[in-house]
Order: sequence, then structure tokens, then C-alpha cells
Amino acid sequence: MAKASPLFECTACGARHPKALGKCTACGAWDTVQEVRGSLKRDLQRAGSAFSQSHYSGPVALPDVEVADAQRAPTGLVELDRVLGGGVVPGMVVLLGGEPGIGKSTLLLQWAASAPDSVLYASGEESERQIKLRAQRLGAESPGIHLLAETDVRRIIEEAERMKPGLLLVDSIQTLFDPDFESSAGSVSQVRGCAALLTRWAKTTGTPLVLVGHVTKDGGLAGPKVLEHLVDTVLAFEGDRHHHHRLLRALKNRFGAAFELGVFAMTERGLVPAEGNPFFLDAEPRPGCAATVVLSGTRPMVVEIQALVAPAGLGIPRRTALGLDGQRLAMLCAVIERRGGVQLHDRDVYVNVAGGLEIEDPAADLAVVAALASSAAGRALVEKCLFMGEVGLTGEVRPVAQLPLRIQEGARLGFARAAVPRLGLEGSVPLELFPEISVERLRGKAWLGLTQAENP
Ligand code: TYD
Ligand code: MG
Repeated sequence: MAKASPLFECTACGARHPKALGKCTACGAWDTVQEVRGSLKRDLQRAGSAFSQSHYSGPVALPDVEVADAQRAPTGLVELDRVLGGGVVPGMVVLLGGEPGIGKSTLLLQWAASAPDSVLYASGEESERQIKLRAQRLGAESPGIHLLAETDVRRIIEEAERMKPGLLLVDSIQTLFDPDFESSAGSVSQVRGCAALLTRWAKTTGTPLVLVGHVTKDGGLAGPKVLEHLVDTVLAFEGDRHHHHRLLRALKNRFGAAFELGVFAMTERGLVPAEGNPFFLDAEPRPGCAATVVLSGTRPMVVEIQALVAPAGLGIPRRTALGLDGQRLAMLCAVIERRGGVQLHDRDVYVNVAGGLEIEDPAADLAVVAALASSAAGRALVEKCLFMGEVGLTGEVRPVAQLPLRIQEGARLGFARAAVPRLGLEGSVPLELFPEISVERLRGKAWLGLTQAENP
């Protein structure tokens, strides 16, 4: 008999390779490619076929395709609806990822309690008793919720067949197993196979399905990346466990805009929509603090950037960035040193985004620069002023997207001025809100006009 060709698989992303590799060519992870042997190999092939079947529905004439958007059902949780793009669509499959303890099960239970129809809540992580206790704490003891402590995916589907719930919740996909497969729960083939079975069931019955997935320390979804392709929507639940707020982000959404952001506060009574703005302290102006508005999806958020410029010790001065890219900070330091005349080469620089938020929006550049200048000068910036603009290498301040939206959000929170590039200002910006300050270029010390009078 001919020797079967070996098969290797990446445990991080599920990509298959014909030979052993030190680094997975698909996802770039090191030491994750392992040989798949015997029964496992059969499992994988079976999982592959379940996966392809889950997507097979035969051709449909375009005019006959139902538009699911019309049937979007709000979940009853405002912040969740915002992230989902207005609610759930029949047959929608959502993957909810997040680190342990972030609040995935809490969100799931609150989702179940506010759902209009009956809900089947299958948990492989907790017993019915544990879930009941949590529901009591949350005041989420809706009679429509049916609990099933089960890890066998086929039994879950059987129960769902019988009960025909309006929503199926599974906590978590990594605890499930399919008895037809011989590999253990949580392995790549099991996760993929179970998710494919559940997805197929959700699509054929038109039932919305939510799968909870664990996230590894480096932020990737544990188990195969292929899950992300299988589902319609990937939600990431993030936040610092030491802060009260939690961010729910849509990383992918076939039924709405991606990168929408929901902000919750974790309280004694579970997750509640965050009030006001958790990332901005409305405090007295202090040296080194500048406010900006960043966009996450379509959500504008006022954020406080804090900078500290301190004399450096021997050696290379430090450039420490928390919540924003370190390379970007190094660049901004160089720009204001060369173009703005702020001496930083013998100073340590620390920049922090208040509230533990991670920002990528280049519109925050100007706030970083203003905060650095303010800290270096030891003077607070003018009161109630927003700083928005991308800073280029020549010291120019470039326009940012959606300036009117950002300015409106700032005005809502009581800001009265904005330092922004003139270019983005034409048209619809309600300029009367903001008396004039505008920074065209960080030439000389012009922007220092933005700092207040000498502060002791
Ligand atoms: P949990 O939903 O169990 O997290 P996950 O399923 O993502 O692992 O939430 C765990 C944390 O949430 C735990 O540290 C306690 C906290 N929590 C509250 O602060 N208030 C509450 O009402 C609930 C239910 C949990
Ligand atoms: Mg949990």
C-alpha cells in the first residue's frame, strides 16, 4: 500500500502545509505547524466537508434573494445594537471574542434576557446553577431563557431542533466537541467542525447564533482563524480589567459597518451603556494635557492625551507611548523638535491616552504635539479646546476625516474651541461654535499661542 502523504497544520490559523515548517506561511506564527496523524487527519477532512456544506445552498436568481436587512431585530441592548448595525438578522452568526473574565458570559446572558423570543443558552463552561445565580444577580431571569449545560455539539443541535429558539447562544466554541471526531475539544478540527455544524443549522433555520470564543494573550482568537471567515460578524470584547469600561468592537460585519464601537460600564448589576464619556476627565486645564476626538467606526470619542516631558538621564532619552504607536510618538517628537523648536533630544518623553484606550486615528497627532509642547513649556493649553489634525514630517497639519462629526461631539461635551487644519474646515463645519484658532503649520512657536498665560 502506498504510504499516505503527511499533512501538517498550523494550530494558530488552521492552514495546512504539505511539509513541516518553522514558520507558518499563512499567518506568520512561529513553531505552530504540527503534523496531523491518522484519525485526526480524517477529522480534518470531515471538518472541511462540513465547512463547505455549510455554505452550499444552490443558485438563486438575484431578484429572488431575500434582503435580510428589512427583518433586522433589535437586541434591546443599545450599545450592542450599535455595534451589530441595528440588531440581528435571521441566520446571522456572530463570534464574540474576548479574554477570560472580560464579561462575555455576562453580555450573553443580558442579550438573552432582553431578546424578544425564546433563547437557548448552551454552556460548556458553567453549570445551570452558576448561570442561574448570575442571572439572579443581573436581574435577568427571563422565563424565555432555556439553559443547557452541554458540550456535545450534536446534542445542542438536537435540542435546538426540538425547541426552535429565536436565538441560540453558545458559550464557548472551544469547549464543544463532535463525537464523530476523535480529536479532543478545543483542537483546530473540533472547533472548526463544531462551528461549521452550528453555522449550517443557523443558516438553514434562519436562527441567529452567537458563538463565544476565547482570545489568547496576544489578542488572536484561540483556535483556527478560519472561524472568522465562517461567521458573519466578529465582535471583540475588550477593555482593561482594571478599568470599569468595556469596549465592544465589530472587527467584521457582513450586515453592517465594521469597526463600530460600543462602550459599556461593568457594574454590580452587569453591563450598562457607558454614560457621558469615560475617556475624558473634565478637569481644570493642566500642563501636558490635550483633548482630541478620535473616530472608531462612526463613533466620535473625546479622548484626553497626557504628556510628560522630563529631563533625561544618561544615554538615549526615552520615548514611552501608552495607548498609541511608539513609532508615531518618536516621529512626532522629531517633528516638534525640528519644526516647532521644542527641545526634546535631552528629555524623556511619556505619552499616555487616558482611560486605557488604544488609538490609531492620526487625527490625534496634533493633540500629542500640543500636549508635548504644553508639558515642555510647563503651561496648560487654552481651556475647552480640541486638537485635531494629522501632523506630517514637514510640520504641516493635514486634514482629518469627518471633522464636522468630531466637532459636534466636542461641542456636546462643552468644548468651545478647536485647533484644526484650515483645509478641513470648508463647508459644513459649524464654525460659530469655534471662534478661530486654526493651526496651519507648526512653524516656529506659533502654536505656543495656544498655551495659557504663565503657570507657576
Ligand atoms: P464573565 O462574563 O464571567 O467573563 P467571561 O465570560 O468573558 O470570562 O465576567 C466576569 C467578570 O465580570 C468577573 O470578574 C465579575 C464581573 N462582573 C461584574 O462586575 N458584575 C456583574 O454583574 C457580573 C455578572 C460580573
Ligand atoms: Mg464566560
